[in-house]
Amino acid sequence: MTQRYEARPAARVAGELEVPGDKSISHRALMLAGIAEGRSEVRGFLPSEDCLATLAAMRSLGVTIERPAADRVFVDGAGLRGLSAPTAALDMGNAGTAMRLFTGLLCAQRFDATLVGDASLMKRPMERVAQPLRTMGADVRTTDGTPPVRIVGGRRLHGIDYRLPVASAQVKSAILLAGVYAEGATTVSSPAISRDHSERMLRGFGATVEVDGLRVRLEPPARLEAQRLQVPGDFSSAAFFIVAGLIAADPAGLLIRNVGVNPSRTGLLTILRAMGAEIEVLDVRDEASEPVADLRVHRSALRGIAVPKDWVPLAIDELPVLFVAAAGAHGETVVTGAEELRVKESDRIAAMSAGLRAIGVEHEALPDGMRIAGAGDAPWNGGVVDSHGDHRVAMSFAVASLRARAPIEVRDVANVATSFPGFVERARAIGIDVRES
Ligand code: S3P
Repeated sequence: MTQRYEARPAARVAGELEVPGDKSISHRALMLAGIAEGRSEVRGFLPSEDCLATLAAMRSLGVTIERPAADRVFVDGAGLRGLSAPTAALDMGNAGTAMRLFTGLLCAQRFDATLVGDASLMKRPMERVAQPLRTMGADVRTTDGTPPVRIVGGRRLHGIDYRLPVASAQVKSAILLAGVYAEGATTVSSPAISRDHSERMLRGFGATVEVDGLRVRLEPPARLEAQRLQVPGDFSSAAFFIVAGLIAADPAGLLIRNVGVNPSRTGLLTILRAMGAEIEVLDVRDEASEPVADLRVHRSALRGIAVPKDWVPLAIDELPVLFVAAAGAHGETVVTGAEELRVKESDRIAAMSAGLRAIGVEHEALPDGMRIAGAGDAPWNGGVVDSHGDHRVAMSFAVASLRARAPIEVRDVANVATSFPGFVERARAIGIDVRES
């Protein structure tokens, strides 16, 4: 198993690449196809550990799934009432999305289920989903707010009108999945935009979903219909190469093809453009209700900015690599309103701060974000960085090697496989000098 990266400074990146399928969409595709009627096909499925945990769980719930290629899946839907009781606890691995969405789906079934995960996931907050699901009539038990999540089945659910305290696509989606089975409509209002893949996909599978600004209303469908889906490339994976291109692209720019550009995901583009980034969004098209484009990234001199708080939820998963971009900007960048980073796969503020310190980037960790001085064109040091088992922290520091004056060793990187199998191969193909061992 890969344990560490050795990333050596490289002067430039060049060429073109594609990134694997979107993680959020891949989870949702398996779940909805599993409760639809008929055979669904998912192309561009992300064969990462997180999504394979969802795939294994759906099989444990009695759904027949064929995988003729790593990224191609056929799902024979069991219908809304056709899932069956698992014989053991369902292991979600590192996948917070899987655990939260399955809590919503399973609290509406006739059988009991228990959800567990790896050491990181077992520490993550689950009451944010359990609490609204209980108000729908579900019996969901956490252990002091964290997993294992125990779900007692056989409850009749009723629709609710729920106001989310924080913008969270996972909580919104869990409630909507339970709402599929509830009596009466379910409405979820959010304080800010969060990714809307569930709404789009539920509609694609035939459910009636009305969206009015930050309010979503779902009518419980009588049935869902099997679909053919093409999953776009994951913007969150493309983010590492977007920043690599900004730091080091050769004059032709770096081309990243087939990237999902759903506006609820592309806050990083807004932030980077405000910092002076030159990124072209080319040939925007629609695939399975999701916008997709090619991105051409040009080497750009970035300026530090104070990131408006309402941009943060749209870039939440990309903030680790944004911190790397900010470290190479001219002038200070301040990110606030990002306290959610404290409860991701790691405490990402602490993990990024420790890593930036190790390579000599001047910054201050804030309770809800980061203040980064910005070194301009001056290279930072090499050093040893601990990813704390966090895939996005690990990949961020591999990209940081592009502007280091000495190698960066990144430790504890096995979890990159949870979201981005093939990261190192793609990084090397465009010129990032990273090796795994
Ligand atoms: C996700 C939602 C986001 C995101 C996570 C994936 C999803 O989390 O950070 O990586 O697929 O719904 P929140 O729901 O906490 O915002």
